[in-house]
Amino acid sequence: MTRIGIVGEFGRETRVAATPVTVRQLAELGYNIVVEKGAGELSSFLDNAYAAAGATIVGADEAWGSDIVLRINPPTEEEIGRLTDGATLIGMLSPALRPELVEALAARPITALALDAVPRISRAQAMDVLSSMANIAGYRAVIEATHEFGRFFTGQITAAGKVPPAKVLVAGAGVAGLAAIGAASSLGAIVRATDPRPEVADQVKSIGGVYLKVEVEEVMTSADGYAKATSEAYNRRAAEIYSEQARDVDIIITTALIPGRPAPKLLTAEDVAEMRPGSVIVDMAAGQGGNVEGSVAGERVVTDNGVVILGYTDLPARLPAQASQLYGTNLLNLLKLLTKEKDGQLRIDFEDVVQRSVTVVRNGEKTWPPPPVQVSAAPPAQAQAPHAGGSAADTAKKTGLSPAGKAGLIAAGMAMLFGINAVAPAPLPQHFTVLLLSIVIGFYVIGKVHHALHTPLMSVTNAISGIIVVGALLQITSGNTFMQIMAAVAVLLASINIFGGFAVTRRMLAMFSRGNRADG
Ligand code: NAI
Repeated sequence: MTRIGIVGEFGRETRVAATPVTVRQLAELGYNIVVEKGAGELSSFLDNAYAAAGATIVGADEAWGSDIVLRINPPTEEEIGRLTDGATLIGMLSPALRPELVEALAARPITALALDAVPRISRAQAMDVLSSMANIAGYRAVIEATHEFGRFFTGQITAAGKVPPAKVLVAGAGVAGLAAIGAASSLGAIVRATDPRPEVADQVKSIGGVYLKVEVEEVMTSADGYAKATSEAYNRRAAEIYSEQARDVDIIITTALIPGRPAPKLLTAEDVAEMRPGSVIVDMAAGQGGNVEGSVAGERVVTDNGVVILGYTDLPARLPAQASQLYGTNLLNLLKLLTKEKDGQLRIDFEDVVQRSVTVVRNGEKTWPPPPVQVSAAPPAQAQAPHAGGSAADTAKKTGLSPAGKAGLIAAGMAMLFGINAVAPAPLPQHFTVLLLSIVIGFYVIGKVHHALHTPLMSVTNAISGIIVVGALLQITSGNTFMQIMAAVAVLLASINIFGGFAVTRRMLAMFSRGNRADG
């Protein structure tokens, strides 16, 4: 039976690559699991919990001697030597940044899979450790900032006086930035955010932040959803915004990264000097060169004017139990993909873009770098923004009718209306005209509503249904059986709409109310 070994990373890591929950699920894939003694201790997962989940607790040599070895950090030379021939190592290997590590791995007859090389496509999100760790890091950055900050985040009116809410600026609204915005705004702070990718504006707003747009001529369009280096004009305008904000805000959290380049410098030493004493900066990019002048990777620095700059690079590891659970689940999802038959046999299919991308070394043969993958991180930039009152030609294009055809249709419709009105007995023409006008007005009113609001709008059309019920009730007493049947049907259908509408509205409100959310 194929054996999976969870090895300890004592001394330099608090996280662990599998938790008792994921161990149980790995066993369901047909594997035999061994865990190195004490491997999960710093994440609060004790040996007896692993044993209860079906794993065997073993010494380091036995864990390293497994067919598949799971871990978090890249292995050292010595650790690579501990792997048995034919073994598979899975962890975060940073192959793009560590060519020497790739060579060292390829020097052994082993297979190495880099979990941090999962392509950023929707299907692979369940295995994306970069996202799950960035999410934790963003949250933890806020917690670190609150810990350093000598005041409340939320505003309060108390008997002892009024407390203003803290103001937080988040630079870079990617995965980590959005997590930070969410955490800071849920603590009650006023949160603002910047990002050169304009598509994040709605995301920032939806989690309680205010998006500060850097107004420049060109708009950053990105095929893969990631930022590119920003232009001179952008940097100039952004620098002005950062200087203004530095004077105003209490906390700054910077997360700005550009793939394949050093982190962009956003805050100068002068900006930091402008901040009030007691303010806090968390430079989440400190490990990649830093977004803030004066930040030091891995360190806490206090400036002359009393501003604390945190350059911690181990933010996910500061929430070890959470990070291990999410990392372990990402790893489990990769193993599910590699063990489709649930027979405890790991098979790598190079036809599958996810499996190809993560494979750095296969049976001693270097397979890095993989062919590039078109990532779908962002919705493709719209060719042309839709504008409110589209021209007749635009509308005609949409409906597939030529302008002449459309004019003909309108003329025919009007002629028909006049024809019916000329021959129909009173009061039919009057009612008919009102009906047609209501259809036209209703069509345009609803047509202008944003798609995302259609369901809420539909669920509150109770007013219309209410009028139908009143009308039908007036008719139901008429002596005509046909009219009575039609009125009864109208009451029934309108009532379904009314009660259904209430039910849908209730469900939608419940979705947004904290108490009813499973994750709330
Ligand atoms: P990242 O860690 O590379 O960058 C962080 C943020 O910094 C980005 O939002 C970027 O736009 C921003 N930034 C770059 N230069 C900046 C500057 N000069 N000033 C201010 N901000 C700057 O990116 P991350 O967070 O890993 O992902 C970015 C986006 O990719 C996400 O927001 C998401 O939309 C998408 N994504 C999609 C995934 C999928 O579909 N599987 C997985 C992960 C991310």
